[in-house]
Amino acid sequence: MIITIDGPAASGKSSLAKVLAQKLDYYYLYTGLLYRALAYILVHAEHKLSLPVTPEEVRDLTPEDFATARHISYRYLHNQPHVYHHGIDITAHLTDARLDQPASVISAYPHARRALLLLQREIAQKHNTIADGRDCGSVVFPDADIKFFLTADVDTRARRLMADHTRGNHEKIFEKVKAALIERDERDKTRAESPLVIPEGAIIVDNSTLTFDQTVAKFLQEIEKRCGI
Ligand code: C5P
Repeated sequence: MIITIDGPAASGKSSLAKVLAQKLDYYYLYTGLLYRALAYILVHAEHKLSLPVTPEEVRDLTPEDFATARHISYRYLHNQPHVYHHGIDITAHLTDARLDQPASVISAYPHARRALLLLQREIAQKHNTIADGRDCGSVVFPDADIKFFLTADVDTRARRLMADHTRGNHEKIFEKVKAALIERDERDKTRAESPLVIPEGAIIVDNSTLTFDQTVAKFLQEIEKRCGI
């Protein structure tokens, strides 16, 4: 069984997917963490790019530069996603808000997407999986059993992002957080390769006015309706 949850940044996908995975005893695949890992490696470990990452710089990278993705691996252990590079756990570096921009720019490039596509499919092959991201239901797992699209209005998402202290948010001005969020959404929606779209047949949930528990309940209800889990 594969359940996908796509949606814009800070719609609450990963917190939700983690709780659903626990409740359903599923494996959680946080695909954004893989793009964050690629950004972290290219910027901080291999110094192939510098901050802020520009599209021009990424365009100049060769397919060999992206071959480093072969050394990325993923495990969902004790209800937490972990990403490794050459076997070393780099997860602690990946959720920092300073990786939002590079991950978003890098992930628009075909080489980056190709580098991580098979890995995502391999992970999901071995388990009942809940995968969240931008193209899970449309490109990575087009035959997923249940597809969701989770969204919320941009002000709500920007407020949530500012309140999320696990992201090491360094920006304290609401308008700046909101502007960066809009820019990231636009880039994800308008890129030629695997853009953020509502997958065909997806159940759309807008949680702008729902609490976290209400969102979890809504998803469980839909999953039960379709699969009788
Ligand atoms: O999900 P998260 O916001 O952590 O992902 C970081 C960035 O990685 C996103 O802004 C998006 O550009 C990219 N991403 C993607 N496709 C996915 C997951 C994430 O392009 N499946």
